[in-house]
Amino acid sequence: MKFIAKTLEGLEEILAEELSEMGAQDIEIWKRAVAYTGDKMTLYKSNLLLRTCLKVLVFMKEFSVENEIDLYNEIKKIPWEDYLSLEDTFAIDSVVNSEKFRHANFIALKAKDAIADRFREKYNQRPNVDTQDPTLKINVHIRENIVTLSLDSSGHSLHMRGYRKHSVDAPLNEVLAAGLVLMSGWDKSSPMVDPMCGSGTILCEAARIAGKIPPQSPDRTFAFKKWKSYDPVLWEMVCDEAESKINTNDIPSLLGYDLNQKAVQVAITNIGEAGLSEFIEVEKEDFFYLEGSQNIMLIFNPPYDGRLKEKDVLDFYSFIGDKLKLSFQGCTAWILSGHMAAMKNIGLRPSAKKSLLNGSIPSLFCRYDMYAGSKKQKWQDMYPQETAKENEKKN
Ligand SMILES: C[S@@+](CC[C@H](N)C(=O)[O-])C[C@H]1O[C@@H](n2cnc3c(N)ncnc32)[C@H](O)[C@@H]1O
Repeated sequence: MKFIAKTLEGLEEILAEELSEMGAQDIEIWKRAVAYTGDKMTLYKSNLLLRTCLKVLVFMKEFSVENEIDLYNEIKKIPWEDYLSLEDTFAIDSVVNSEKFRHANFIALKAKDAIADRFREKYNQRPNVDTQDPTLKINVHIRENIVTLSLDSSGHSLHMRGYRKHSVDAPLNEVLAAGLVLMSGWDKSSPMVDPMCGSGTILCEAARIAGKIPPQSPDRTFAFKKWKSYDPVLWEMVCDEAESKINTNDIPSLLGYDLNQKAVQVAITNIGEAGLSEFIEVEKEDFFYLEGSQNIMLIFNPPYDGRLKEKDVLDFYSFIGDKLKLSFQGCTAWILSGHMAAMKNIGLRPSAKKSLLNGSIPSLFCRYDMYAGSKKQKWQDMYPQETAKENEKKN
């Protein structure tokens, strides 16, 4: 079987690493997705265990078309009765990136007609469409004149882990938070701190990674559980194996701070929902008053609140750089931000930089190693590529 794991832009490589560790074969990195092969067990593991995956699609067929009639005919040829009974329901999700085919909704309608007509001609009846909770969700992806058909095995997006009952302004997507922790190279045994933790997403994902706790609950409603091909015995085996690997003794000290009392409350509630209260502590504290200690890793996304004046945001990030230099010598900090000018103002030389999309916002995730005598530096020296791009834009 061939699968397509969808992800956020910038997390493709880390997802490919997760897949390789899981034993997937023929891994190919695409834009916002990773393709791979495996069997039904790979499919079940992918849904249960991948932390940086939004959806797992099962590849069905690829073909070229010149027009909507070709598309209708090709889809109608597929033996849909092998996948759906008359009592089942289906839905079509279409993504179109083509000069020839411009309207995703029209493509979805054509695909739906092809399936419905095949059933009507065979049985005089057809399964109904249910866009909310279908038995089978079919993905039609058109790039130029190439159509890729796949089945959505996940259902609800896998970023919805189920623990985030409340959130603060600008919470991180759980898949992105897990990606940040995995990309940071955190050794999973040193203490980790999110000093501006908001709803606690980074901390929850970090604790689960350290304790090998699967990102999804086995009881979650995955789409593949409604399929004719669902194998509950195999699923149980996969879940049992994953459970046997959990080791919460491995979770090191995880600490969160936030200036805002409401955020602290929200984080504590979410951490409780995730069953992680005994591993993560959250306190109301201002980052600028924290006492640093050696050898900790900080991962955080500071705000760049639209309500603040630009100068205040720039100053805030400059103070973050000063504070890191002053109180966190011997530590590593990773900062995610979509405010490039503010990132410049941190004024420390990043030892690693990753470009990501946070929602639709192009962002940088930068690593700073604080050692005795870390100096603030000029932006132009630290970010040569970004500076060249800016100069190009100006000219
Ligand atoms: C963008 S949010 C973090 C979102 C978080 N990663 C999540 O997933 O929910 C930034 C947080 O920083 C907090 N914050 C702002 N200034 C702070 C400071 N000086 N010390 C501690 N927290 C601060 C805000 O209250 C806010 O909750």
